[in-house]
Amino acid sequence: MTDDRANDTAEFAVVPARPPQRRSVPTRPVVVAANRLPVTRAQHGWAPSPGGLVRALLPLLRASGGTWVGWTGEADDAPEPFTHDGVNLHPVLVTADEVQDYYEGFANDTLWPLYHDALRDSTYSSAHWAAYQAVNQRFADALAEVAPDQAIVWIHDYHLQLVPQLLRDKRPDLVIGFFFHIPFPPVELFMRLPWRTEIAAGLAGCDLVGFQRAINAANFGVVCDELLGRRANVGSYPISIDVSELEAAAAGRATRQRSNRYRTRLGEPEVVLLGVDRLDYTKGISQRLRAYQSLLDDGTLETERCVMVQVATPTREGVEHYQVERREIEQLVSEINGVHGRLGYPAIHYLYQSLPLDELVALYRTGDVMLVTPLRDGMNLVAKEYVTTRLDGDGVLVLSEFAGAADELTDAVLVNPHDSGALRDAIVTAVEMNRHERRARMAKLREDVRASDVQTWADRFLAELVATIEDR
Ligand code: F6P
Repeated sequence: MTDDRANDTAEFAVVPARPPQRRSVPTRPVVVAANRLPVTRAQHGWAPSPGGLVRALLPLLRASGGTWVGWTGEADDAPEPFTHDGVNLHPVLVTADEVQDYYEGFANDTLWPLYHDALRDSTYSSAHWAAYQAVNQRFADALAEVAPDQAIVWIHDYHLQLVPQLLRDKRPDLVIGFFFHIPFPPVELFMRLPWRTEIAAGLAGCDLVGFQRAINAANFGVVCDELLGRRANVGSYPISIDVSELEAAAAGRATRQRSNRYRTRLGEPEVVLLGVDRLDYTKGISQRLRAYQSLLDDGTLETERCVMVQVATPTREGVEHYQVERREIEQLVSEINGVHGRLGYPAIHYLYQSLPLDELVALYRTGDVMLVTPLRDGMNLVAKEYVTTRLDGDGVLVLSEFAGAADELTDAVLVNPHDSGALRDAIVTAVEMNRHERRARMAKLREDVRASDVQTWADRFLAELVATIEDR
């Protein structure tokens, strides 16, 4: 296929809603681009990065002889292209200055807060924008070089929004899809971006732009209409997890034993409240801690009965908003433990660490009430991981309405985390829920996640991407 779509300004059609179905995986080679490669440097060579996305896409690349184009995660580190576990990897250079200006700056201090409801002020810096353009051009050049004739190129996330049109200009033969892992904001917020038209035009180089939620797709539709005067091919494709991997990790005797040990070490409380998040201001950790604090303050909850565990994974530590958030959370943890802890029994156990999968899964099995209360989140896979690991059929999920997962996991205790009273009530509802209701809700939640795993998600997106071309 060699149609020249480089300068195509024709109206794009909205992809009609298709019933979810498993379609055959495309026969064209697939090339993936994401800010990060699916491997990180280990002591001896490379280790695969954790996560369902990597596990879902690698077999596709392996089978089709495709390539993953991305950054190693370290400044000035661009080894020659190499093969890992049968998959071609093509590293893209990000210099130390670009780590500051492109990654920490434009991606995570301009786009990230703006796309998450402007929960923090964005910086608008032309130096950061220049670095974003340069890195996007570098990705487009690398993709143009490695993509086989008529390949499918699947670009991931907000770091690379200019790549589609840059690539289209160089390689009109390619089928180009884009998936946003984070929300896409309403037009009122997007319009704040000094480079809004360039970004919209970059994305418009795609054959299909996928989002987590229908509302995100609608927001992008309005932006295209207002800024470019045309419509875009959009659709919603809620991402999921590798259900069989998580179930297998949770199934063993070792997990049960580890979970029992955790409960003993926590002092055999009646209720373990659990939070597992990257330490990001979008996750609503401080609001959650304040709700717990106020329930302890007024005696609604007692530390003889309850304990909280909060895992906060280090992330983007070079960005000031994250440093401020960490200080606030650690101050709150300290206040709560100072007032409500007992010797040997803190009211909250706080880990600023990244846990390996076996420990995480055992912790999920220990958490009687899982608190997933982000102020805004594209999807939130922790919610899906929690219910998947609950092979015992017990446990309560408290879930923010502002997480993409709330569209599917409607049997969770849904809450508006901006409403401190509602957050308190949701925690109390979860703590007091009777066993019959807990099990009934958990059964439905587990069904929901099993109905659509990350492989289904990838198959559906790719099938619809190819269909947009075949429909022409
Ligand atoms: O949710 C968006 C995302 O970019 C994920 O893809 C990623 O796992 C997470 O945020 C952390 O991102 P990073 O450490 O690459 O900034």
